[in-house]
Amino acid sequence: MRILVTGKNGQLGRSIQKIVNTDTKTDNNQSTNDFIFVAREELDLSSESSIGHYFDDSDRFDVIINCAAYTAVDKAEEEQELANQVNHLAVKQLTKIAKDQKAKLIHISTDYVFDGESDKPYTETDTPNPINVYGRTKLTGEKALQAIMPINAIIIRTSWLYSEYGNNFVKTMLRLGRERDELSVVNDQMGSPTYATDLADAILEIIRHNKFREEGQMTQIYHYSNEGEVSWYEFAKEIFKIEKIDCEVNPVTSQQYPTPAKRPRNTIMKKDKIVTVFNIKISNWESSLNACMTIFKQKP
Ligand SMILES: NC(=O)c1ccc[n+]([C@@H]2O[C@H](COP(=O)([O-])OP(=O)(O)OC[C@H]3O[C@@H](n4cnc5c(N)ncnc54)[C@H](OP(=O)(O)O)[C@@H]3O)[C@@H](O)[C@H]2O)c1
Repeated sequence: MRILVTGKNGQLGRSIQKIVNTDTKTDNNQSTNDFIFVAREELDLSSESSIGHYFDDSDRFDVIINCAAYTAVDKAEEEQELANQVNHLAVKQLTKIAKDQKAKLIHISTDYVFDGESDKPYTETDTPNPINVYGRTKLTGEKALQAIMPINAIIIRTSWLYSEYGNNFVKTMLRLGRERDELSVVNDQMGSPTYATDLADAILEIIRHNKFREEGQMTQIYHYSNEGEVSWYEFAKEIFKIEKIDCEVNPVTSQQYPTPAKRPRNTIMKKDKIVTVFNIKISNWESSLNACMTIFKQKP
């Protein structure tokens, strides 16, 4: 299969590349697939014509995995038009192209489509109600995809993504923890951290699965994060514990730490559907955090 992955330089795009490169070397099933990773320079999702040109100039794909997105949650409050173009209009255009090409589409979305007011883990059928621009643009992207491709597509909502690549909470905490004696971290937002390598593994597992390969399957939403739930404060404490960083962490409320974009209070998601349908095994967030930290230590 010819598989296109957008967002080549993002956390998830790079995590998929890492696994595909290792698997190809070890001939672990991926060698029958031809992965094409594309960055913004070649496929700019903020430009309708760039998207058109890219696909006009390419051979058809069997699968498109859309890992690219406008992910700057706070900046999106100011750059609404750009966030909407990348997270909604470009998704709509990509979906039309996927449908025309008879390609399957895997699109990544977010827990921030929910308002966070539920006291129970969110299921795929719970009603979204985003409370910031980023969440709203991701939700309109989801809806556009579902309207255009009622079959042959998958939306995976994930949360609190971190990795050894790019900017993320874990890397920020490691830097600040080494610079400072004391830090204040929000303790009233609950969620599930997700190691991008685990999500990348799950996506590659799905592609290998017979259920995914069958034609005419109804388009579905799936939730995926690591198991377990924490506040950002507890997450920071664990990062410092693993790395033996001597930095005091003070719990604060969201009110004491205002940000341009409002954040949902609780976005824990139920993952039974992806586990059952694709037989995905999900690691606990603590063991995945340890795995990521081990890789940090191996880096020169
Ligand atoms: N990060 C999280 O905590 C989180 C949480 C929930 C869901 N998600 C979702 O998970 C997916 C992957 O997130 P991630 O953390 O891997 O994101 P990321 O590290 O921010 O990477 C996003 C990628 O999108 C690319 N991109 C942005 N604007 C673009 C444009 N106009 N044209 C082409 N490419 C563009 C970026 O390109 P450049 O490298 O050139 O900037 C980057 O490679 C996204 O759909 C995101 O919404 C993320």
